[in-house]
Amino acid sequence: MTEGAFENLHSTVLLEETVHALAVRPGGIYVDATLGLGGHTEGILEAAEGTQVVGIDQDPAAISLASKRLKKWKSRFKPVKGNFADIRQIAAGQGYPEVDGIVADLGVSSIQLDTVERGFSFRADAPLDMRMDPAPGSKTAADLLETSTEVEIADIIYKFGEERASRKIARWIVEAREKGSPIRTTKQLADLTERALGRKRGDRIHPATRTFQALRIAVNDELGKIESFLIDAVDILKTDGRLAVITFHSLEDRIVKHAFRKLTGKCTCPPRIPACICGAKKVIELVNRKPIVPGEDEQKKNPRSRSAKLRVVQRIADQSQTP
Ligand SMILES: C[S@@+](CC[C@H](N)C(=O)[O-])C[C@H]1O[C@@H](n2cnc3c(N)ncnc32)[C@H](O)[C@@H]1O
Ligand SMILES: [Zn+2]
Repeated sequence: MTEGAFENLHSTVLLEETVHALAVRPGGIYVDATLGLGGHTEGILEAAEGTQVVGIDQDPAAISLASKRLKKWKSRFKPVKGNFADIRQIAAGQGYPEVDGIVADLGVSSIQLDTVERGFSFRADAPLDMRMDPAPGSKTAADLLETSTEVEIADIIYKFGEERASRKIARWIVEAREKGSPIRTTKQLADLTERALGRKRGDRIHPATRTFQALRIAVNDELGKIESFLIDAVDILKTDGRLAVITFHSLEDRIVKHAFRKLTGKCTCPPRIPACICGAKKVIELVNRKPIVPGEDEQKKNPRSRSAKLRVVQRIADQSQTP
């Protein structure tokens, strides 16, 4: 990655809206659970005097780039390489068992997408990798396609890509493998999906879009960690502290909406169950009932922002301690 990467900074999604929604307090302690290039972190550092931000990212490249970019903030910015599923331990490890606010801007960053050799994009040819955390020994997307059964591959593409032709794509992937030429590069996979689905004139998106999204979500277990992260995040907020979450597709947004509903005390048990088993307890209030979405200007400047939704909640006083 080059210094040119910093040009991507304009792509921080819903920056003003998020910083505003967090109601940043002077001297407050914040966690940016998805540091990326540090756009939201910088917004918080600039918003009020003496704020401090712990910036978490599982991608060492993001930690290194953001650290360079945010150097001038010295000890007010604390980068930590880790998974946001461990937010409680990470914040406590920095000396903050409780914090004033948390932001999470979920999914993949534009710099990850644009760094060809990381294999997230079907627009260039590279090894099919897609790991946000390229720890030695962890499974790449190519490994996943080589070691999963046809049914498992179809399920991934259906569940995480909402792709109706998932079975056909999975069958073609496994056929290629059986013929001794497994799918190992982004171009091989993009071409295969295009051949399997055909491309109609006027299609707004490339036929491989949903399959690539699905594999990326599976490789990084992107959906598996969101709910427990939200529960822990709310738990370490001080009273009146806020959590702002930006999602980019309906699968993420559904998990966030559902978790927030439960944390507002609404029972989410199936309708015919005789007694509540979901353990709903009111610990937050919704700050916005409808999600905040980017304005037309932002959508024009940054097409990736088009699907973004920002949901914000506020921690309420612990009711179990009131008489
Ligand atoms: C959309 S980008 C964030 C961009 C950032 N807000 C900015 O302004 O530059 C999401 C980042 O979160 C990281 N990420 C995704 N899931 C994560 C997880 N479970 N734990 C830690 N980092 C994660 C990715 O590596 C990526 O860098
Ligand atoms: Zn319930």
